Amino acid sequence: MAISTTPALEISEISRRFGGLRAIKSANASIAQGERVSIIGTNGAGKSTLFNVIAGLFPPHSGYIKLFGEEITHLPPSKRARKGLARTFQISKLFSSLSVIENVYIALKQTKYAGASLMLRKTKGNRWDRARELVEQVGLASKMDTIVDELSHGEQRQLELAMAMALEPKLLMLDEPAAGLSKAERESLTKMLLELDPEITLLLIEHDMEIALRVASRVIVMHDGEQVFEGTPSEIKASQLVRDIYLGGSIDDD
Ligand SMILES: Nc1ncnc2c1ncn2[C@@H]1O[C@H](COP(=O)(O)OP(=O)(O)O)[C@@H](O)[C@H]1O
Ligand SMILES: [Mg+2]
Repeated sequence: MAISTTPALEISEISRRFGGLRAIKSANASIAQGERVSIIGTNGAGKSTLFNVIAGLFPPHSGYIKLFGEEITHLPPSKRARKGLARTFQISKLFSSLSVIENVYIALKQTKYAGASLMLRKTKGNRWDRARELVEQVGLASKMDTIVDELSHGEQRQLELAMAMALEPKLLMLDEPAAGLSKAERESLTKMLLELDPEITLLLIEHDMEIALRVASRVIVMHDGEQVFEGTPSEIKASQLVRDIYLGGSIDDD
């Protein structure tokens, strides 16, 4: 499956402060193409900040970021997106008065499904088909023609995911996609993530431990702006350190 040994994402010595607060002290990671990695940690650990730095929302104070071998540390978010990086919250521009499928159709306009083909008619047909496919994939088949305003919070998040997928990302970054979802919605989200195209690299911040551990083959634990542990889902389950972090909020590293 692996076409290249170049990592999908490489971050080196990344730090980010907000005033005197060191939100990320020094982050280092290399994520292989097609790898599924979860980032867990209590509130304020620096997980979203790390995503923001990777997506280009704010620059890091040190270090570099490489996307598929190319340095992107100082590129604007839009250029990173064009290189295959998609992040749910950033591109979730839902059109609240349009239907589910219309939203996805619009997202597809930014991709190869755009009308620049000689066979415009055929392309247009394909775009609706593809939109329908994506809506089904995120578990919203029964809401195909529902206006976004009438969706539940959880359903809107599923739609955001369909729109991220429409961009055909090579690196998909999801920040707590299960937040606010019902049990049934969580299950369909998990299924969708497990069935994701194996070539897509997934970086997932998830508070729901069951999803975080089920979807990923590797888990990074952050605490107080630092990576404090990394391992397979079973190593995470067995880790006393991880248990202490979640129970106490402070670490006793003896
Ligand atoms: N834009 C910002 N301005 C100031 N402080 C921020 C900003 N974003 C995050 N922080 C702070 O950085 C720390 C890490 O936050 P965050 O990355 O959101 O953690 P997590 O996603 O792990 O809960 C927190 O103390 C938070 O208050
Ligand atoms: Mg967060």
